[in-house]
Amino acid sequence: MSHDITSANKMAALSDGKEEARYFVRVIEKNDGSCLHMKQCSEGDVGCVVWDAAIVLAKYLETKAFWDPDAGTNLWSGKTVLELGAGTGVVGLMAATLGANVTVTDLEELQHLLHVNIRDNQCLVRHGSIVPKVLKWGEDVTEFLPHPDFILMADCIYYEQSVEPLVKTLRDLAGPDTSVICSYEQRTTGHNAEVEKKFFQVRSKCPLCPGEVSCITNHYPQMACRTFIVW
Ligand SMILES: C[S@@+](CC[C@H](N)C(=O)[O-])C[C@H]1O[C@@H](n2cnc3c(N)ncnc32)[C@H](O)[C@@H]1O
Repeated sequence: MSHDITSANKMAALSDGKEEARYFVRVIEKNDGSCLHMKQCSEGDVGCVVWDAAIVLAKYLETKAFWDPDAGTNLWSGKTVLELGAGTGVVGLMAATLGANVTVTDLEELQHLLHVNIRDNQCLVRHGSIVPKVLKWGEDVTEFLPHPDFILMADCIYYEQSVEPLVKTLRDLAGPDTSVICSYEQRTTGHNAEVEKKFFQVRSKCPLCPGEVSCITNHYPQMACRTFIVW
């Protein structure tokens, strides 16, 4: 899987300073009219751009299932959220701006980008909170306990070798009251379909894992991504 900086992402090159020149910004408008400004890197591994699945999941968090300003309901308020494979951090940032207390996690090499994006969007995080941390799938999760209310992951099911460690991390982190929401792009090329199948097979063998997976109906049809509640 490679990222295409020039096409789908509506980006504008930054011109203020040499450090900034290697970033490109993607603007994501929230329902309240404010905007998240997500820096992406022009060079780097898969985590350094905003993938469509992240937009779709971020927009799902704003749907009336969770947040309805007219009715005065906000399910995110005060909830603990952990994002796996956060990349740029857009999903976690959306949750934090909605009032959740969020930990965004990824590999060591993504930490700088996560820090930069949190700093740049901190002004939108008024009632919630957000911190970046290193979490490599399959490794010890003690530091991330007690079990969060929600685990979020966008486009993390794409690499066969990481399926078992990813499911181990979900099993270790998910408590009886944790919801795991995942979104991913439906790709027709490569091994994606097999990797998805393997993920759901490995997941279904976990003790205490609910048998059913609920697919969220298409709340953001502009992008070919599916959103599931997988735990
Ligand atoms: C396709 S990117 C998705 C990034 C972001 N969630 C998005 O949708 O824009 C997959 C992410 O998973 C992270 N990742 C891959 N393998 C990992 C592992 N073993 N442990 C933790 N994170 C991992 C990558 O660093 C990357 O940020």
